Amino acid sequence: MADAQAMTTTNTLPHATLLESINVFAQVLGPTWAKGVIIRRPAMVGIAESLGLDKHAVRYMQKLRNKYGNDPLLLRLPKGINYALVFMPEHVHRVLQETHQPFATDSREKHAALAHFQPDGVLISQDPERSKRRHFNEAVLDTALPVHRLADHFMRVVNEEASQLLDSLGYKQQLDWTRFASCWFRIVRRVVFGSAARDDEHLTHLVNKLRGHANWAFMYPRNKALQQELHTRINHYIQLAAQSGSAPEPSLAALIANMPQDAATAPADQVAHWLFAFDPAGMTVFRALALLASHPQQAAQAQAELQANTGSARQYLPYLRACILENLRLWPTTPVILRQSMSDTVWENGIMPAKTGLIIYTPLLHRDDEYLPYANIFAPEVWLNQQNTAIAKQWPLLPFSEGPAICPARNLVLLLTSNMLAELLQSSSLELLSSRLNPKLPLPGTLSPYRLRFKASS
Ligand code: HEM
Repeated sequence: MADAQAMTTTNTLPHATLLESINVFAQVLGPTWAKGVIIRRPAMVGIAESLGLDKHAVRYMQKLRNKYGNDPLLLRLPKGINYALVFMPEHVHRVLQETHQPFATDSREKHAALAHFQPDGVLISQDPERSKRRHFNEAVLDTALPVHRLADHFMRVVNEEASQLLDSLGYKQQLDWTRFASCWFRIVRRVVFGSAARDDEHLTHLVNKLRGHANWAFMYPRNKALQQELHTRINHYIQLAAQSGSAPEPSLAALIANMPQDAATAPADQVAHWLFAFDPAGMTVFRALALLASHPQQAAQAQAELQANTGSARQYLPYLRACILENLRLWPTTPVILRQSMSDTVWENGIMPAKTGLIIYTPLLHRDDEYLPYANIFAPEVWLNQQNTAIAKQWPLLPFSEGPAICPARNLVLLLTSNMLAELLQSSSLELLSSRLNPKLPLPGTLSPYRLRFKASS
């Protein structure tokens, strides 16, 4: 603040023109919102794919970045409403590393959305509760470990469910999103709660219904009864896991029973977030299947890794994990990372007022073909050679964000997704029937998982 006062009032950050500000909403934030921020709207994702909306958005952001150069760009909005686009790698790192002071994760719009089903979720909490909730998440999800302590059990779950999925494809042997997603959510319920919840599709339906409300944020009334029903169901499974005696079935819920917690921890809210966040993980597996089905060279490398690693060695499959990360680079499932400044902040060329919403648009960083030679191709090696690639050292690739709010489940997600990929790749050969992905052509800005279809043959 002292620094901010020392700057003269002429040191203001650049403002976009009114037309540019309208265009940011029309071409960048509007399509992102229309596709669904908390739960995707399949029809809108299909429209975005057909019209190439995400590529247009990246182009528009490049144009603004090139025009305004180094500073965060304030949008021209009604008085009292401040938003800024953050372009430069060093500014992106700064905002994410300086989470939570002065840049809070608990932004207005995120709060309005997530409060529909997890009002006490860590992402929309502030200290002192936030620290407790973050600690709880890290402790159950084993954030600090490359491989979760229950990895072997979770891999068995993935193996059983993936085999059942492939056995159930019928005479046409077609795998589409609906079949895949039912299987994926059975895995999710078993991982989170154990086999008692395996077939509880109503639980997933409840989460998805509330996520649908959350897409509308302030514009949809909160349904407290439905939220209560979800939390009661979650608590029921947590208690079931706690009561299951001296040798409980391994699950995240069984770990919760042994965690230090108090009223502020709000486990049901944290678990509601987990159930929601496993959905994009499933989409990522399905898109990775499509990329591998259309890129023979990378598919051969994946198969070589599977042949060289069986059993517990599959806890850590570097190449398949890189394929998942690469998918998240190409089609990030959190395309907008939001922060809210809690005080005035000083930048090289000016002051940003307190209560500004900072917008980090990850598709610009991930698909910037003016800086990244691999912007629009499938290049898993980017994630394997990261230490050697000068550009990757300071260029923000942010599938799981970074800094104090980095996704605490990233290693668990990579374990489950890489193993799901492994099971499907090794048991059958999958031919992509729907999309025309071609290693010789730039990859599309959007890849709708809902439209992907495969033919399996053993
Ligand atoms: C493909 C799958 C996933 C991706 C790409 C992803 C990505 C992210 C990102 C980008 C953030 C940070 C948002 C920000 O900086 O504002 C985040 C936060 C979070 N994620 Fe994930 N996530 C995934 C799956 C999961 C799963 C499965 C869980 C739980 C089991 C989870 C738990 C969380 C939690 C609790 C936070 C909030 C952290 C905090 O505020 O400190 N995520 N995730």
